[in-house]
Parts: sequence; structure tokens; C-alpha cells
Amino acid sequence: MIESITLQNFRNLQGNYLPTTGINLIVARNGAGKSNFLDAIYHLSRGKSFRTIAEGNAINWDSSLPFARIESHISGSKKLALILSQLEGQNRKRFEVDGSPKKRLTFVSNIITVLFAPQDLDIVSGSPDIRRAEIDDFLSQSSKVYEENLREYKQVIVRRNKLLQRIAERKANEKELKFWDEKLVESGTGLIKMRYDTLNRFAPSVIKYSNDLFAGEIGNLRIEYLSRFADSPEADNIADEFLSTIIKGRVKELAAGRTLYGPHRDDLNIVFDNRPIRIFGSRGQQRIAALIIKFAMLKYLSENNQQSPILLLDDIMSELDPKHRHNLEEFIQELGTQCFITGTDESQFSRNFMGKNNNLRLQ
Ligand SMILES: Nc1ncnc2c1ncn2[C@@H]1O[C@H](COP(=O)(O)OP(=O)(O)O)[C@@H](O)[C@H]1O
Ligand SMILES: [Mg+2]
Repeated sequence: MIESITLQNFRNLQGNYLPTTGINLIVARNGAGKSNFLDAIYHLSRGKSFRTIAEGNAINWDSSLPFARIESHISGSKKLALILSQLEGQNRKRFEVDGSPKKRLTFVSNIITVLFAPQDLDIVSGSPDIRRAEIDDFLSQSSKVYEENLREYKQVIVRRNKLLQRIAERKANEKELKFWDEKLVESGTGLIKMRYDTLNRFAPSVIKYSNDLFAGEIGNLRIEYLSRFADSPEADNIADEFLSTIIKGRVKELAAGRTLYGPHRDDLNIVFDNRPIRIFGSRGQQRIAALIIKFAMLKYLSENNQQSPILLLDDIMSELDPKHRHNLEEFIQELGTQCFITGTDESQFSRNFMGKNNNLRLQ
């Protein structure tokens, strides 16, 4: 939980903010810095921006200081500080917990957030790599083992790709691949199993939210993991299938010079009433599906982690009709987690909701 947050030189924001443990509303005109504020909190949980194009744009343009600082007191009386600086054109980050420098992975384990922003529509409507990034991000928040396994898998791919290229150029022997095939299968199978397992446990709340919260708009929303090596998480031959696929595809991989098989090519299937939503859903339905998935992630993280996740909702009301706005307000109110929700106008929220909750002003 965030008890206070102090921003110095962080884009257009500057000041000390005191949120409540419950719901914090940030209502301000476009361009006021609402998304930037949520991004500051996101930085504390990921060590980076959620606006990927904004990486490297943390420091206030008009400031002569070469750094921006995000500082926060969180529950457990810890103090987190992230200093983003620019030196000779290079972006640097310094992570501190209680004044001592820490590695990124240690720093980010102090806060868990779930963010829903307008661009998250892409999780449903976009390409498979967006879904993979989402599932990797979610699982990394929920499990250190996954995070480390993922890092290892990515390293294996880089090394293996280099070797494939060298073999194609006749600078290395094909026999050397055996070692990297095994490494790839080992860490890749771990990822596949953990993805399957987590999605299986989280799918029931996806169905439930689609039927309870957004009935009439989207029903029976299902999310499944698609791996070409197994059709169920119980499958005990994932590693064998994986390895035999690699061996069969040897010529193709050598020609391509990169690793063509593995969980870095998998996808999620998101279906409502038995139809793939990416193809048959309207934009409105796709947005709601993405929101439901985020809520299911929040539930999963709160049930499977010691610390309770913080919910960040950026500009969520503007695209919803009054009935769904109302359902959503009730839902958030009952969650009992710390939440930051932005809007451009007070009329997007009910008077009751505005009155009950903390109004956080951006100075
Ligand atoms: N590095 C920066 N320095 C100063 N202002 C910035 C910087 N980066 C973005 N901004 C300003 O932040 C504002 C956008 O903030 P944003 O959080 O997207 O607003 P909102 O979500 O309230 O519409 C823009 O007005 C932009 O000019
Ligand atoms: Mg915004």
C-alpha cells in the first residue's frame, strides 16, 4: 500500500501526495498529468514506464536538473526511491530501498500493481506478442520463480540463435546444438507449465466477472493458453513434444537462423460465447474483455501473494455506458484494495462514489 508519494521533476508533476488506503479519485482535464501520476506508481512496481514510448522521458523538460525522482513510503514503513537520470545521452535508473541501492528485481518486489489503461484494448485485439508480454508481466508479478525462469529462457534463445547463425555460416558444428536444445526445452517447459497452471486457476473468475459484471455486453468469456506442445496443463509429455518438434524442424531453424519453436511463439485464446473476440468482438466488447482479464489478474494476485495488489485505472469510465459505470463503481468499492482511478470530469462518477472516496489533487 502506498502511504505517500513524492514526485520531483517527474514529467509535469511535482509535489507530495497523500493517498488513502481505499479509493483515490484523480479528476482533472486532459493533459493535467493523470496518466503520468499512475505511471509514477507503475514505475515503483516495475522499474519502468507503462507508456513504452515515454521511456527516457521522465525528466521535466523545463528543469535544469538532470534527474527525476519518485519517492514513496509504503506499508511496512519502507521507503522506496527511484531516480531516473540522463548522463551523456544515456538513461540511467537508480533503485533504493530505505536509502540503500538495490537491484531492480529486489526493488520491484515491494509493490504489486494491476493497471488498466485505454491501450490495454490491444491485449484482446492486438498481435500475439502483446498477449505474451502481458502474461509474462502478470506471471512475473505473481512469481519470482517465473520471473527468473523467463529471464533464463530469453538468454537461452539469444545464445541459441547466435549458434544457429554460426552453424548456417559453417563456423560451428551442428552437434553443439544439443546442449542448447536441452536448455531451451528445460526452461521453456517450465514456462509453459506455469502459464497453463496459472491461467487455469484464473479462468473461473474471468467467466464469473463476464457474467456478473457485464452481463448483456459480453457473456461466458474464456481465456485459454495455446501451446503447440500440449493441449492441457496435465500433459506430462510437454518436454518430449517440444524436443521432437525442434529436431523435426532443424532445417527450418538453420535456414531462419533463429529459434522457431517454444513458448515465445505461443498465444492466448480469448473467446466469448464460443467466438474468438479478436475477430468477432466490437471495440466496446474487446475493451470490456480486457478489463475483465485485469480484474481476474487482480483477484489472482490478491489471493496468491502476501501483499495486496494496487489497482490503477486510467480513464476507464469515458468509454462505458451509465449502467456499467455503476456496476464498476460498486465492484471497486467492494474490492477493499487500494485503488487509483482517473477521470476527466466529475460527471463520469456518481455523486455517492465521489463523496465516499478520496479526491486526490494534482498540484
Ligand atoms: N518530460 C516532460 N516534462 C514536462 N511535461 C511533460 C513531460 N512529458 C510529458 N509532459 C506533459 O504531460 C502532459 C500529459 O500528461 P498525461 O499524464 O498524459 O495527462 P492526462 O492523463 O491527465 O491527460 C502533457 O501536457 C505533456 O506536455
Ligand atoms: Mg491520460
